Amino acid sequence: MFYDPRSDEHGLPRNPWTALVTPRPIGWISSLSADGVPNLGPYSFFNAAAGVPPFVTFSSTPRKDSLNNIDASKEFAVNIVSWDLREQMNLSSGHFDPDVDEFRATGLTAAPCRNIKAPRVAESPIALECVLYDTIELKPRSGLPCKTTMVIGEVVGIHISDEIIVDGFIDVARYRPVCRLGYMEYAAVGETFTMHRPDAEDMARADYR
Ligand SMILES: Cc1cc2nc3c(=O)[nH]c(=O)nc-3n(C[C@H](O)[C@H](O)[C@H](O)COP(=O)(O)O)c2cc1C
Repeated sequence: MFYDPRSDEHGLPRNPWTALVTPRPIGWISSLSADGVPNLGPYSFFNAAAGVPPFVTFSSTPRKDSLNNIDASKEFAVNIVSWDLREQMNLSSGHFDPDVDEFRATGLTAAPCRNIKAPRVAESPIALECVLYDTIELKPRSGLPCKTTMVIGEVVGIHISDEIIVDGFIDVARYRPVCRLGYMEYAAVGETFTMHRPDAEDMARADYR
């Protein structure tokens, strides 16, 4: 089948889009409101955007508390969702008024960051401290209405739980990152395999990942 998303005539019972680019990592975004209220929400239109130096990106549709906070404070943290944290992640996507501390509401611990004022999720195996690089309001060339803002963050601090480092490497089996599939489906990383790049012998060395 083929469809043009500008007409949205896919003929399927549900829009398939979120099931097409999968799995998507979940950026669990923590931020601080202008009044100092900690905020937390999951975003799966999220990814690492660059490596050296590291950048991340996520998209908010429409404008939500996280984006309002980041616009004001110019910083946020990204917490990685482990299998053990899946229920709290889901809970934090519920509607909470901006004056509600979503760490408290979800039973999570707010830990301090080092290079930004926003808190991070203490229970999360990985947390990325970010400063705002830019926000981009998407304006489709088709002229279709759009309420999406992309946020790009520069990573300025990285927390890694010692428990997921095995022989110097990050071991995903120790925390099983949760990712978003289509509809209401999720996956947790279970099986991994190694492939060496054909054109760079040094990449085959175990220390060049
Ligand atoms: C797994 C998951 C992924 C989500 N991804 C997004 C997303 O990429 N963009 C978005 O705007 N909302 C997304 N949502 C919905 C937000 O998490 C939800 O609107 C939340 O209340 C936003 O929190 P905030 O207002 O505190 O920022 C997602 C929800 C879940 C459960």
